Amino acid sequence: MRLEPPCKVTRDKLTFDVAEIEPLLQAFPLDMEPWPEAMITLKDGRVLYIREAKIEEAPVLLSYVKKMLDVDHDFYDIVGARVYAEILGWYRKRLKDPFTLIGLIDGQLAGLGNGRMFSKDIAVSLHTMTFSRGVRMGWVMYYAKTYYALEILGASEWWSTFESYNGWRMAGVEMAQPQYPWPTMQHELGGSPIYYVSKNYWNKVIKQYLRTMIGSDLIFDVPEEVKQKNRTLIVPSDVTV
Ligand SMILES: CC(C)(COP(=O)(O)OP(=O)(O)OC[C@H]1O[C@@H](n2cnc3c(N)ncnc32)[C@H](O)[C@@H]1OP(=O)(O)O)[C@@H](O)C(=O)NCCC(=O)NCCS
Repeated sequence: MRLEPPCKVTRDKLTFDVAEIEPLLQAFPLDMEPWPEAMITLKDGRVLYIREAKIEEAPVLLSYVKKMLDVDHDFYDIVGARVYAEILGWYRKRLKDPFTLIGLIDGQLAGLGNGRMFSKDIAVSLHTMTFSRGVRMGWVMYYAKTYYALEILGASEWWSTFESYNGWRMAGVEMAQPQYPWPTMQHELGGSPIYYVSKNYWNKVIKQYLRTMIGSDLIFDVPEEVKQKNRTLIVPSDVTV
């Protein structure tokens, strides 16, 4: 767009350093407490160690998640494509206040759950993925990020939506999450309905979810041996979902 200046000017060009533009494009971050790392024993006896992904691990996570785009069942392709964009958005600093929790078994990437702080009160669930199926690992990862948002980051509401039947069952149905009126309110993932967990509902009911649905709970005092086994992130060589 071009208009004639309404005033005489002594320079008719201004130049910007990209470092001056960046603060306008990058969101100003909230102060976020870190996820304290945790572990849980899964239904099959394996120990899942959950920690926050490090930004320098984004490229290796991207390389694995990209493979999900070729999975033609259970909505892995659309969820994989979106998770790819979210990890890249975090890496390239184009997502406001994101968090990415990864679940590891003996160092091997087995699950992922991410979200972001929309504001200091509202936390948005982005996606949950399990790369080793059949043991409700996704349920654990979804619970862990809900715990993080409501217990540690201090959000008063947690907003989710679901692309897949398995995701809807895992959190929409089994947590009996209420919904906001639609289309008046829409989740940022494609404008679908917002399912929500308030802090009150969390405290009264959902906090017990893992005990009820998995039969065990998160342990935050992780033994050195478990930390040691998960020191180095390994991405699986194959896709077995
Ligand atoms: C949704 C998701 C995270 C759920 O995680 P999960 O519970 O660890 O994963 P599964 O789908 O393997 O298992 C859920 C249940 O379905 C059964 N199941 C369904 N399809 C299965 C399959 N192909 N292989 C093994 N188990 C399967 C499991 O045995 C389990 O049964 P149970 O409830 O009786 O224990 C996972 O299915 C996933 O990553 N899907 C693709 C991405 C996605 O849809 N994410 C959510 C977006 S809304």
